[in-house]
Amino acid sequence: MSDKNAKLIYPAAELEIGLKVKKAVIGPSAVDISTLYRDTGLLTYDPGFLSTASCHSSITYIDGDQGVLLYRGYPIEQLAEKSSFLEVSYLLLYGELPNTAQLADFSGIIGHHTMINEALKTFFDGFHYDAHPMAIMVGVVGSLSAFYHDSLDIQNPRHREISAHRMIAKMPTIAAACFKHNVGEPIVYPQNNLSYCGNFLKMMFATPCEEYQPDPIAEKALNLLFILHADHEQNASTSTVRLAGSSGANPFACIASGIASLWGPAHGGANEAVLSMLEEIGDVSQIEKYVARAKDKDDPFRLMGFGHRVYKHYDPRARIIRAVSHEVLEKFADSNNPMFELALRLEEIALQDEYFVERKLYPNVDFYSGIIYQALKIPRNMFTVMFAIARTSGWVAHWMEMIADPAQRIGRPRQIYDGAPLRDYVPLDKR
Ligand code: ACO
Repeated sequence: MSDKNAKLIYPAAELEIGLKVKKAVIGPSAVDISTLYRDTGLLTYDPGFLSTASCHSSITYIDGDQGVLLYRGYPIEQLAEKSSFLEVSYLLLYGELPNTAQLADFSGIIGHHTMINEALKTFFDGFHYDAHPMAIMVGVVGSLSAFYHDSLDIQNPRHREISAHRMIAKMPTIAAACFKHNVGEPIVYPQNNLSYCGNFLKMMFATPCEEYQPDPIAEKALNLLFILHADHEQNASTSTVRLAGSSGANPFACIASGIASLWGPAHGGANEAVLSMLEEIGDVSQIEKYVARAKDKDDPFRLMGFGHRVYKHYDPRARIIRAVSHEVLEKFADSNNPMFELALRLEEIALQDEYFVERKLYPNVDFYSGIIYQALKIPRNMFTVMFAIARTSGWVAHWMEMIADPAQRIGRPRQIYDGAPLRDYVPLDKR
Protein backbone atom coordinates (compact mmCIF):
# COMPACT_ATOMS: atom_id res chain seq x y z
CA MET A 1 0.00 0.00 0.00
CA SER A 2 2.42 2.71 -1.08
CA ASP A 3 2.75 5.41 -3.73
CA LYS A 4 5.76 7.58 -4.48
CA ASN A 5 3.77 10.74 -4.09
CA ALA A 6 5.59 12.90 -1.56
CA LYS A 7 8.51 15.11 -2.45
CA LEU A 8 11.38 16.45 -0.40
CA ILE A 9 12.92 19.61 -1.83
CA TYR A 10 16.12 20.91 -0.26
CA PRO A 11 17.39 23.79 -2.41
CA ALA A 12 20.64 24.28 -0.43
CA ALA A 13 21.79 20.86 -1.61
CA GLU A 14 19.99 21.07 -4.95
CA LEU A 15 18.03 18.09 -3.87
CA GLU A 16 14.61 16.98 -4.98
CA ILE A 17 13.60 13.45 -4.19
CA GLY A 18 10.37 11.47 -4.42
CA LEU A 19 9.28 9.57 -1.33
CA LYS A 20 6.71 6.85 -0.88
CA VAL A 21 3.73 7.44 1.36
CA LYS A 22 2.54 4.39 3.25
CA LYS A 23 -1.19 4.42 3.82
CA ALA A 24 -2.71 3.20 7.06
CA VAL A 25 -6.02 1.30 7.19
CA ILE A 26 -7.22 4.13 9.44
CA GLY A 27 -5.26 7.04 10.83
CA PRO A 28 -2.38 9.08 9.47
CA SER A 29 -0.29 7.93 6.51
CA ALA A 30 3.49 7.93 6.84
CA VAL A 31 6.19 9.24 4.53
CA ASP A 32 8.65 6.39 4.07
CA ILE A 33 12.09 7.86 4.68
CA SER A 34 13.87 4.53 5.19
CA THR A 35 16.15 5.06 2.14
CA LEU A 36 16.62 8.80 2.67
CA TYR A 37 20.09 8.54 4.18
CA ARG A 38 21.25 6.06 1.57
CA ASP A 39 19.92 8.24 -1.27
CA THR A 40 20.77 11.71 0.04
CA GLY A 41 23.09 11.51 3.07
CA LEU A 42 20.43 13.30 5.14
CA LEU A 43 18.93 12.10 8.40
CA THR A 44 15.57 13.06 9.91
CA TYR A 45 15.34 14.53 13.41
CA ASP A 46 12.40 13.74 15.70
CA PRO A 47 13.22 13.65 19.41
CA GLY A 48 10.53 11.80 21.35
CA PHE A 49 9.23 10.33 18.07
CA LEU A 50 6.44 12.90 17.78
CA SER A 51 6.09 12.34 14.04
CA THR A 52 7.72 8.95 13.57
CA ALA A 53 6.03 5.61 12.93
CA SER A 54 8.58 2.98 13.97
CA CYS A 55 6.75 -0.04 12.52
CA HIS A 56 3.64 -1.47 10.94
CA SER A 57 1.28 -2.93 13.52
CA SER A 58 -2.20 -4.43 13.40
CA ILE A 59 -2.72 -4.73 17.15
CA THR A 60 -4.02 -1.43 18.51
CA TYR A 61 -5.32 1.79 17.00
CA ILE A 62 -5.61 5.12 18.79
CA ASP A 63 -7.19 8.30 17.49
CA GLY A 64 -5.95 10.80 20.03
CA ASP A 65 -8.03 13.67 18.64
CA GLN A 66 -11.30 11.80 18.84
CA GLY A 67 -10.49 9.79 21.99
CA VAL A 68 -10.77 6.42 20.22
CA LEU A 69 -8.99 3.23 21.29
CA LEU A 70 -9.41 -0.05 19.39
CA TYR A 71 -7.83 -3.42 20.14
CA ARG A 72 -7.70 -5.38 16.86
CA GLY A 73 -10.53 -3.16 15.65
CA TYR A 74 -12.80 -3.60 18.66
CA PRO A 75 -13.68 -0.43 20.64
CA ILE A 76 -12.30 -0.40 24.16
CA GLU A 77 -15.76 0.52 25.51
CA GLN A 78 -17.25 -2.76 24.18
CA LEU A 79 -14.36 -4.88 25.40
CA ALA A 80 -14.46 -3.21 28.82
CA GLU A 81 -18.16 -3.87 29.17
CA LYS A 82 -18.38 -7.38 27.73
CA SER A 83 -15.10 -9.28 27.84
CA SER A 84 -12.58 -10.66 30.29
CA PHE A 85 -8.87 -9.88 30.52
CA LEU A 86 -7.89 -13.32 29.21
CA GLU A 87 -10.27 -12.91 26.28
CA VAL A 88 -8.59 -9.58 25.51
CA SER A 89 -5.13 -11.13 25.90
CA TYR A 90 -6.11 -13.82 23.39
CA LEU A 91 -7.41 -11.14 21.04
CA LEU A 92 -4.17 -9.15 21.28
CA LEU A 93 -2.02 -12.23 20.72
CA TYR A 94 -3.98 -13.97 17.97
CA GLY A 95 -5.90 -11.15 16.30
CA GLU A 96 -9.41 -12.55 16.76
CA LEU A 97 -11.74 -13.00 19.71
CA PRO A 98 -11.71 -16.61 20.95
CA ASN A 99 -14.77 -18.83 20.71
CA THR A 100 -15.89 -20.71 23.83
CA ALA A 101 -13.60 -23.70 23.26
CA GLN A 102 -10.60 -21.51 22.37
CA LEU A 103 -11.08 -19.38 25.48
CA ALA A 104 -11.40 -22.44 27.72
CA ASP A 105 -8.27 -23.86 26.15
CA PHE A 106 -6.36 -20.59 26.51
CA SER A 107 -7.44 -20.18 30.16
CA GLY A 108 -6.27 -23.74 30.82
CA ILE A 109 -2.88 -23.08 29.21
CA ILE A 110 -2.39 -19.85 31.16
CA GLY A 111 -3.41 -21.69 34.34
CA HIS A 112 -0.88 -24.41 33.55
CA HIS A 113 1.95 -21.85 33.55
CA THR A 114 1.05 -19.77 36.63
CA MET A 115 3.60 -21.33 38.97
CA ILE A 116 7.14 -20.04 39.11
CA ASN A 117 10.16 -22.31 39.43
CA GLU A 118 10.88 -22.87 43.14
CA ALA A 119 14.45 -21.69 42.55
CA LEU A 120 13.12 -18.32 41.41
CA LYS A 121 11.65 -17.77 44.87
CA THR A 122 15.15 -17.42 46.29
CA PHE A 123 15.71 -14.36 44.09
CA PHE A 124 13.22 -12.44 46.22
CA ASP A 125 15.34 -13.02 49.32
CA GLY A 126 18.16 -11.04 47.77
CA PHE A 127 16.08 -7.87 47.98
CA HIS A 128 15.75 -5.78 51.08
CA TYR A 129 12.27 -6.07 52.62
CA ASP A 130 11.36 -2.50 51.61
CA ALA A 131 12.69 -2.66 48.03
CA HIS A 132 10.27 -1.06 45.59
CA PRO A 133 8.20 -3.85 44.00
CA MET A 134 8.94 -2.46 40.51
CA ALA A 135 12.67 -2.86 41.25
CA ILE A 136 12.06 -6.47 42.33
CA MET A 137 9.87 -7.03 39.29
CA VAL A 138 12.53 -5.79 36.84
CA GLY A 139 15.08 -8.11 38.43
CA VAL A 140 12.92 -11.20 38.84
CA VAL A 141 11.29 -11.02 35.40
CA GLY A 142 14.71 -10.49 33.82
CA SER A 143 16.00 -13.51 35.70
CA LEU A 144 13.27 -15.68 34.13
CA SER A 145 15.47 -15.58 31.04
CA ALA A 146 17.96 -17.73 32.94
CA PHE A 147 15.30 -20.43 33.31
CA TYR A 148 14.16 -20.33 29.70
CA HIS A 149 17.08 -19.51 27.48
CA ASP A 150 18.88 -22.47 25.95
CA SER A 151 15.57 -24.22 25.26
CA LEU A 152 14.14 -21.17 23.52
CA ASP A 153 14.49 -20.54 19.80
CA ILE A 154 12.79 -17.23 19.06
CA GLN A 155 12.70 -18.04 15.35
CA ASN A 156 10.32 -20.90 16.16
CA PRO A 157 6.72 -19.58 16.28
CA ARG A 158 5.66 -22.26 18.76
CA HIS A 159 8.50 -21.33 21.11
CA ARG A 160 7.45 -17.69 20.88
CA GLU A 161 3.88 -18.64 21.70
CA ILE A 162 4.91 -20.65 24.76
CA SER A 163 7.05 -17.74 25.98
CA ALA A 164 4.07 -15.40 25.59
CA HIS A 165 1.84 -17.77 27.58
CA ARG A 166 4.45 -18.12 30.30
CA MET A 167 4.84 -14.39 30.60
CA ILE A 168 1.12 -13.63 30.86
CA ALA A 169 0.66 -16.51 33.34
CA LYS A 170 3.59 -15.81 35.65
CA MET A 171 3.31 -12.05 35.92
CA PRO A 172 0.54 -12.03 38.60
CA THR A 173 2.42 -14.69 40.60
CA ILE A 174 5.62 -12.63 40.52
CA ALA A 175 3.77 -9.37 41.24
CA ALA A 176 2.00 -10.83 44.29
CA ALA A 177 5.28 -12.36 45.50
CA CYS A 178 6.88 -8.88 45.34
CA PHE A 179 4.14 -7.63 47.66
CA LYS A 180 4.49 -10.61 50.02
CA HIS A 181 8.21 -9.97 50.21
CA ASN A 182 7.54 -6.35 51.17
CA VAL A 183 5.13 -7.30 53.95
CA GLY A 184 7.08 -10.31 55.16
CA GLU A 185 4.35 -12.89 54.48
CA PRO A 186 4.84 -16.26 52.77
CA ILE A 187 4.36 -16.42 49.03
CA VAL A 188 0.90 -17.81 48.18
CA TYR A 189 0.69 -20.36 45.36
CA PRO A 190 -1.72 -19.81 42.48
CA GLN A 191 -5.09 -21.54 42.56
CA ASN A 192 -6.09 -22.22 39.00
CA ASN A 193 -9.81 -22.74 39.45
CA LEU A 194 -10.02 -19.00 40.13
CA SER A 195 -10.20 -16.39 37.38
CA TYR A 196 -7.01 -14.59 36.35
CA CYS A 197 -7.91 -11.60 38.54
CA GLY A 198 -9.38 -13.68 41.37
CA ASN A 199 -6.19 -15.71 41.47
CA PHE A 200 -4.11 -12.55 41.69
CA LEU A 201 -6.23 -11.19 44.55
CA LYS A 202 -5.81 -14.46 46.41
CA MET A 203 -2.03 -14.50 45.93
CA MET A 204 -1.94 -10.90 47.20
CA PHE A 205 -4.22 -11.10 50.19
CA ALA A 206 -4.52 -14.72 51.34
CA THR A 207 -2.34 -16.13 54.11
CA PRO A 208 -1.83 -19.81 54.92
CA CYS A 209 -3.86 -19.37 58.14
CA GLU A 210 -7.19 -18.22 56.78
CA GLU A 211 -9.72 -19.04 54.10
CA TYR A 212 -9.79 -16.47 51.33
CA GLN A 213 -12.44 -15.84 48.71
CA PRO A 214 -11.86 -13.01 46.25
CA ASP A 215 -14.61 -10.41 46.32
CA PRO A 216 -16.55 -10.42 43.00
CA ILE A 217 -16.68 -6.62 42.83
CA ALA A 218 -12.91 -6.39 43.37
CA GLU A 219 -12.39 -9.10 40.76
CA LYS A 220 -14.61 -7.26 38.28
CA ALA A 221 -12.86 -3.94 38.90
CA LEU A 222 -9.45 -5.52 38.41
CA ASN A 223 -10.61 -7.25 35.24
CA LEU A 224 -11.73 -3.88 33.89
CA LEU A 225 -8.50 -2.10 34.84
CA PHE A 226 -6.42 -4.87 33.28
CA ILE A 227 -8.41 -4.67 30.03
CA LEU A 228 -7.97 -0.90 29.87
CA HIS A 229 -4.22 -1.18 30.45
CA ALA A 230 -3.61 -4.20 28.22
CA ASP A 231 -2.19 -2.36 25.23
CA HIS A 232 -1.64 1.14 23.89
CA GLU A 233 0.30 0.76 20.63
CA GLN A 234 3.86 2.12 20.44
CA ASN A 235 4.11 3.74 23.90
CA ALA A 236 7.48 4.08 25.67
CA SER A 237 7.50 0.66 27.33
CA THR A 238 6.20 -1.22 24.27
CA SER A 239 8.72 0.52 22.06
CA THR A 240 11.38 -0.44 24.61
CA VAL A 241 10.32 -4.09 24.41
CA ARG A 242 10.43 -3.92 20.62
CA LEU A 243 13.83 -2.21 20.55
CA ALA A 244 15.33 -4.67 23.03
CA GLY A 245 13.75 -7.56 21.14
CA SER A 246 14.93 -6.29 17.75
CA SER A 247 18.43 -7.56 18.52
CA GLY A 248 17.06 -11.08 19.04
CA ALA A 249 17.35 -10.83 22.84
CA ASN A 250 15.64 -13.24 25.20
CA PRO A 251 11.93 -12.26 25.48
CA PHE A 252 11.88 -12.36 29.28
CA ALA A 253 14.80 -9.90 29.35
CA CYS A 254 12.90 -7.74 26.82
CA ILE A 255 9.82 -7.66 29.04
CA ALA A 256 12.05 -6.69 31.99
CA SER A 257 13.24 -3.72 29.91
CA GLY A 258 9.60 -2.79 29.25
CA ILE A 259 8.91 -2.91 32.99
CA ALA A 260 11.86 -0.58 33.61
CA SER A 261 10.53 1.91 31.07
CA LEU A 262 7.00 1.69 32.47
CA TRP A 263 8.23 2.61 35.94
CA GLY A 264 8.92 6.27 35.08
CA PRO A 265 6.46 8.90 36.40
CA ALA A 266 5.80 10.19 32.87
CA HIS A 267 4.50 6.72 31.94
CA GLY A 268 3.17 3.93 34.19
CA GLY A 269 4.56 5.47 37.36
CA ALA A 270 1.97 8.24 37.02
CA ASN A 271 -0.74 6.28 38.89
CA GLU A 272 1.48 6.17 41.97
CA ALA A 273 2.41 9.82 41.48
CA VAL A 274 -1.27 10.85 41.25
CA LEU A 275 -1.99 9.50 44.72
CA SER A 276 1.11 11.16 46.15
CA MET A 277 0.02 14.42 44.54
CA LEU A 278 -3.55 14.18 45.87
CA GLU A 279 -2.17 13.48 49.31
CA GLU A 280 0.15 16.46 49.02
CA ILE A 281 -2.74 18.71 47.93
CA GLY A 282 -4.63 17.30 50.90
CA ASP A 283 -7.71 19.49 50.76
CA VAL A 284 -10.04 21.03 48.18
CA SER A 285 -9.06 24.50 49.43
CA GLN A 286 -5.48 23.89 48.22
CA ILE A 287 -6.37 22.97 44.64
CA GLU A 288 -6.10 26.49 43.18
CA LYS A 289 -2.58 26.79 44.57
CA TYR A 290 -1.47 23.52 42.97
CA VAL A 291 -3.12 24.31 39.64
CA ALA A 292 -1.20 27.63 39.64
CA ARG A 293 2.03 25.73 40.35
CA ALA A 294 1.33 23.33 37.46
CA LYS A 295 1.00 26.33 35.13
CA ASP A 296 4.17 28.03 36.37
CA LYS A 297 7.00 27.27 33.92
CA ASP A 298 9.60 27.95 36.65
CA ASP A 299 8.06 25.26 38.84
CA PRO A 300 8.74 21.63 37.86
CA PHE A 301 5.39 20.55 39.39
CA ARG A 302 2.91 19.03 36.92
CA LEU A 303 -0.59 17.79 37.52
CA MET A 304 0.04 14.08 37.50
CA GLY A 305 -2.58 12.10 35.63
CA PHE A 306 -3.16 14.99 33.22
CA GLY A 307 -1.99 15.14 29.63
CA HIS A 308 -1.03 12.47 27.17
CA ARG A 309 1.30 12.30 24.21
CA VAL A 310 -1.40 10.96 21.92
CA TYR A 311 -4.76 11.90 23.44
CA LYS A 312 -5.65 15.50 22.85
CA HIS A 313 -9.15 14.65 23.98
CA TYR A 314 -10.56 12.85 27.03
CA ASP A 315 -8.69 9.53 27.39
CA PRO A 316 -11.47 6.97 26.66
CA ARG A 317 -10.02 4.69 29.34
CA ALA A 318 -10.31 7.47 31.93
CA ARG A 319 -13.96 7.94 30.99
CA ILE A 320 -14.67 4.22 31.52
CA ILE A 321 -12.87 4.04 34.87
CA ARG A 322 -14.50 7.21 36.10
CA ALA A 323 -17.91 5.73 35.39
CA VAL A 324 -17.32 2.49 37.31
CA SER A 325 -15.27 3.92 40.14
CA HIS A 326 -18.37 4.80 42.17
CA GLU A 327 -19.39 1.13 42.53
CA VAL A 328 -15.93 0.17 43.75
CA LEU A 329 -15.55 3.15 46.04
CA GLU A 330 -18.98 2.66 47.58
CA LYS A 331 -18.13 -0.93 48.44
CA PHE A 332 -14.52 -0.59 49.54
CA ALA A 333 -13.40 2.97 50.11
CA ASP A 334 -12.81 4.22 53.57
CA SER A 335 -15.60 6.80 54.02
CA ASN A 336 -13.08 9.18 55.61
CA ASN A 337 -10.85 9.06 52.56
CA PRO A 338 -11.34 12.33 50.68
CA MET A 339 -9.19 11.34 47.68
CA PHE A 340 -11.98 10.69 45.22
CA GLU A 341 -13.81 13.91 45.99
CA LEU A 342 -10.52 15.76 45.76
CA ALA A 343 -9.77 14.15 42.41
CA LEU A 344 -13.20 15.04 41.00
CA ARG A 345 -12.86 18.65 42.12
CA LEU A 346 -9.33 18.91 40.73
CA GLU A 347 -10.55 17.53 37.43
CA GLU A 348 -13.41 20.03 37.34
CA ILE A 349 -11.16 23.00 38.05
CA ALA A 350 -8.41 21.95 35.64
CA LEU A 351 -10.86 21.24 32.81
CA GLN A 352 -12.15 24.81 33.01
CA ASP A 353 -8.73 26.39 33.21
CA GLU A 354 -7.53 28.13 30.05
CA TYR A 355 -4.00 26.68 30.39
CA PHE A 356 -5.29 23.08 30.37
CA VAL A 357 -8.00 23.75 27.78
CA GLU A 358 -5.56 25.42 25.35
CA ARG A 359 -3.06 22.56 25.64
CA LYS A 360 -5.78 19.92 25.50
CA LEU A 361 -4.67 18.44 28.80
CA TYR A 362 -7.34 16.00 29.93
CA PRO A 363 -7.23 13.41 32.73
CA ASN A 364 -5.58 10.21 31.53
CA VAL A 365 -6.23 6.62 32.61
CA ASP A 366 -3.89 6.92 35.56
CA PHE A 367 -5.75 9.81 37.09
CA TYR A 368 -8.38 7.34 38.36
CA SER A 369 -6.73 3.93 38.42
CA GLY A 370 -4.72 4.67 41.56
CA ILE A 371 -7.83 5.70 43.46
CA ILE A 372 -9.50 2.39 42.62
CA TYR A 373 -6.40 0.38 43.49
CA GLN A 374 -6.23 2.20 46.80
CA ALA A 375 -9.86 1.33 47.52
CA LEU A 376 -9.00 -2.33 46.77
CA LYS A 377 -6.27 -2.08 49.47
CA ILE A 378 -3.49 -2.43 46.96
CA PRO A 379 -0.55 -0.43 48.29
CA ARG A 380 0.61 2.57 46.35
CA ASN A 381 4.00 1.20 45.40
CA MET A 382 2.18 -1.72 43.72
CA PHE A 383 0.13 0.48 41.35
CA THR A 384 2.67 0.42 38.52
CA VAL A 385 3.16 -3.31 39.09
CA MET A 386 -0.57 -3.72 38.42
CA PHE A 387 -0.11 -1.81 35.19
CA ALA A 388 2.82 -4.10 34.28
CA ILE A 389 0.71 -7.25 34.77
CA ALA A 390 -1.92 -5.93 32.37
CA ARG A 391 0.49 -4.48 29.82
CA THR A 392 2.39 -7.76 29.58
CA SER A 393 -0.24 -9.10 27.17
CA GLY A 394 0.35 -6.07 24.91
CA TRP A 395 4.13 -6.33 25.22
CA VAL A 396 4.19 -9.99 24.22
CA ALA A 397 1.73 -9.40 21.37
CA HIS A 398 4.02 -6.66 19.99
CA TRP A 399 7.13 -8.76 20.52
CA MET A 400 5.55 -11.66 18.62
CA GLU A 401 4.34 -9.39 15.84
CA MET A 402 7.79 -7.84 15.50
CA ILE A 403 9.75 -11.10 15.40
CA ALA A 404 7.34 -12.55 12.81
CA ASP A 405 7.60 -9.44 10.59
CA PRO A 406 9.89 -10.17 7.60
CA ALA A 407 10.75 -6.42 7.44
CA GLN A 408 12.06 -6.54 11.02
CA ARG A 409 15.61 -5.27 11.51
CA ILE A 410 17.59 -4.29 14.57
CA GLY A 411 16.36 -0.92 15.86
CA ARG A 412 19.20 1.54 15.51
CA PRO A 413 18.35 5.26 15.57
CA ARG A 414 20.88 7.82 14.35
CA GLN A 415 21.85 11.14 15.92
CA ILE A 416 22.90 14.67 15.18
CA TYR A 417 26.34 14.83 16.72
CA ASP A 418 27.04 18.10 18.52
CA GLY A 419 30.05 17.16 20.63
CA ALA A 420 33.68 18.20 20.18
CA PRO A 421 35.11 18.02 16.65
CA LEU A 422 38.22 15.89 15.95
CA ARG A 423 41.03 16.76 18.37
CA ASP A 424 44.27 15.22 19.61
CA TYR A 425 44.74 13.40 22.87
CA VAL A 426 46.41 15.58 25.53
CA PRO A 427 48.72 13.69 27.92
CA LEU A 428 47.64 13.71 31.57
CA ASP A 429 50.48 15.98 32.75
CA LYS A 430 49.60 18.59 30.10
CA ARG A 431 45.92 19.00 31.06
N1 ACO B 1 0.60 19.56 34.07
C1 ACO B 1 0.92 20.79 33.64
N2 ACO B 1 1.33 21.08 32.39
C2 ACO B 1 1.41 20.06 31.53
C3 ACO B 1 1.11 18.73 31.90
C4 ACO B 1 0.68 18.49 33.21
N3 ACO B 1 0.38 17.26 33.62
N4 ACO B 1 1.30 17.91 30.83
C5 ACO B 1 1.71 18.70 29.83
N5 ACO B 1 1.78 20.00 30.23
C6 ACO B 1 2.12 21.16 29.41
C7 ACO B 1 3.61 21.23 29.13
O1 ACO B 1 4.28 22.01 30.11
C8 ACO B 1 3.63 21.86 27.78
O2 ACO B 1 3.36 23.24 27.93
P1 ACO B 1 4.03 24.33 26.91
O3 ACO B 1 3.47 23.99 25.56
O4 ACO B 1 3.58 25.64 27.45
O5 ACO B 1 5.51 24.11 27.00
C9 ACO B 1 2.42 21.27 27.06
O6 ACO B 1 1.50 20.96 28.13
C10 ACO B 1 2.72 20.00 26.26
O7 ACO B 1 3.36 19.06 27.13
P2 ACO B 1 4.55 18.11 26.71
O8 ACO B 1 5.34 17.74 27.93
O9 ACO B 1 5.29 18.70 25.56
O10 ACO B 1 3.75 16.86 26.18
P3 ACO B 1 4.31 15.40 25.99
O11 ACO B 1 3.46 14.76 24.97
O12 ACO B 1 5.79 15.41 25.75
O13 ACO B 1 4.09 14.72 27.42
C11 ACO B 1 3.08 13.57 29.23
C12 ACO B 1 3.00 13.92 27.72
C13 ACO B 1 4.46 13.03 29.57
C14 ACO B 1 2.04 12.50 29.55
C15 ACO B 1 2.79 14.86 30.05
O14 ACO B 1 1.49 15.36 29.74
C16 ACO B 1 2.94 14.63 31.55
O15 ACO B 1 4.04 14.73 32.09
N6 ACO B 1 1.80 14.34 32.27
C17 ACO B 1 1.85 14.03 33.67
C18 ACO B 1 2.33 12.60 33.87
C19 ACO B 1 1.28 11.56 33.51
O16 ACO B 1 0.12 11.65 33.90
N7 ACO B 1 1.72 10.54 32.78
C20 ACO B 1 0.86 9.39 32.40
C21 ACO B 1 0.68 9.32 30.93
S1 ACO B 1 -0.50 8.10 30.56
C22 ACO B 1 0.32 6.63 30.64
O17 ACO B 1 1.50 6.50 30.51
C23 ACO B 1 -0.51 5.51 30.91
